[in-house]
Amino acid sequence: MLVYRTFEELKSFLQEQVGLGKAIGFVPTMGALHDGHMSLVQKSKELAGITICSIFVNPTQFNVSEDLEKYPRTEESDLKVLLKNDCDVVFIPSVDEVYPINYVSPRIELGGIDLIMEGMGRPGHFDGVVQVVGRFFEQMNPDFSFFGEKDFQQLVVVEKMVKERNFKVKIVSCAIMREPSGLAMSSRNVRLSEAGLILAQEISTQLRKVKQQFTKKNTLEIEHQVKLFFNSHPDFKLSYFEIVDETFLLPFSNSGLKARAIIAVELEGVRLLDNLSLN
Ligand code: PAF
Repeated sequence: MLVYRTFEELKSFLQEQVGLGKAIGFVPTMGALHDGHMSLVQKSKELAGITICSIFVNPTQFNVSEDLEKYPRTEESDLKVLLKNDCDVVFIPSVDEVYPINYVSPRIELGGIDLIMEGMGRPGHFDGVVQVVGRFFEQMNPDFSFFGEKDFQQLVVVEKMVKERNFKVKIVSCAIMREPSGLAMSSRNVRLSEAGLILAQEISTQLRKVKQQFTKKNTLEIEHQVKLFFNSHPDFKLSYFEIVDETFLLPFSNSGLKARAIIAVELEGVRLLDNLSLN
């Protein structure tokens, strides 16, 4: 497994591989890798000849500096996991490498999908995400890039950015990986206590209930029930729960589009996201 820390080294390796006719698969991550990330690496290995995984805690997508500081950094164990999963290349750039002093990022019009849900509580978050993902795409020119459905809004935002910037990359969405308890895998789960991990199961339990009720009750009534549940629970702080269409992320209105329930809650000071396709 090769480890590169500069775009120059990485690009010269990629040029050779493209010359050999290999397709490039790219899995962007912020490290603290778990089985969810490894499912993206496995998917890339299925579709591409070379798989690159980046580990970069991107400062521009954090609007609270405390959150950035608390983000787990586990490079040594991440490298072990990637080696075990036969990843070909790991890219671990510094902040200065990704954002050199003279770098000007293009402004991307995201049409408002960056301002709702995650974007509402975290202003500028998606600008940071499209900035860093765009920067990586510019430099690596991958054929495929893999994103988990756990961050469903991020997936839709990245697809929009790819269209706006005319990148040739195909975005591949990968199903959420869950613990046996149902809890969606996340790098943030390590910050939960044992009791927190048990309580957190309630998030996927509520989503499954929503799915059962989806064809029987109206969406506003379902949303009301879920909000009541989390708002009246002393340990959870609900950021949002919404049933939206999967294309525009607008409130679902039986428009023939696919529906998805999306939730963000805080538990023990940890922000947890989850979602479930409903039809
Ligand atoms: O989902 C993440 O871990 C990050 O938002 C990403 C896509 C690696 C960009 O920093």
